[in-house]
Amino acid sequence: MNVVVVNNFDRMSEEAAKLMVAQIRSKPNSVLGLATGSTPLGVYRLLAEYHQRGVDFSSVTTFNLDEYVGLAPAHPQSYRHYMEENLFSKVNVRKENTHVPSGTAPDLQAECERYEQAIRQVGGIDLQLLGIGSNAHIGFNEPGTPFGSTTQVVDLTESTIKDNARFFASPDEVPTQAVSMGIKSIMRAKNIVLIAYGGSKAEAIYAALRGPVTPKVPASVLQLHPSVTFVVDQAAGSKL
Ligand code: GLP
Repeated sequence: MNVVVVNNFDRMSEEAAKLMVAQIRSKPNSVLGLATGSTPLGVYRLLAEYHQRGVDFSSVTTFNLDEYVGLAPAHPQSYRHYMEENLFSKVNVRKENTHVPSGTAPDLQAECERYEQAIRQVGGIDLQLLGIGSNAHIGFNEPGTPFGSTTQVVDLTESTIKDNARFFASPDEVPTQAVSMGIKSIMRAKNIVLIAYGGSKAEAIYAALRGPVTPKVPASVLQLHPSVTFVVDQAAGSKL
């Protein structure tokens, strides 16, 4: 695993954006796995700037990691809405090539299978961007999620609901479930870039990189992947 410790959020965003742009330049029809949360916001801002300077997303396909159960695409806190706002509307990716699981499908189980199938159909993910939860979750795969899991409906832990409450008017409004790509779906990506900043992620980064590989620490599974880069700022890397 490559571990890159940089000075701050902006440098973390630059490093990750550079890796993503290199991927698109080397394979214009790349399949990108995308993440949400506060951490990738700088990366998406830079990708929009790269697009202004000529990087072409017209053949790119994207798959997001997850979506809240019960939030329609137009809901301001839905991950589909986040992606439209922060990236899709700023680059020339084709709408039909952007995929976010549906959190409102009438049959969520069928939706999970459809999503896995859609990833397979395009030949899998070339580069997966990941954030990390303060409890080391990746996507919405909370501690204890089996490593063999594929896209599924998951229950969010109290700590994740609390972490994400800042985006909602009150903690009661945070959905308690999500549709998330599984650990196995993530591990099938050819390359993975995990980004993290801030002291609240230091413990999770330490456990993921230096601790035992265990479902109790979902991100620790990345130690088993052949091509992973962690890009963390000094605060997130402070326990390494
Ligand atoms: C959510 C997302 C994760 C993300 C995590 C961290 O739970 N499902 O994919 O990595 O939040 O969010 P943040 O970047 O805001 O710390």
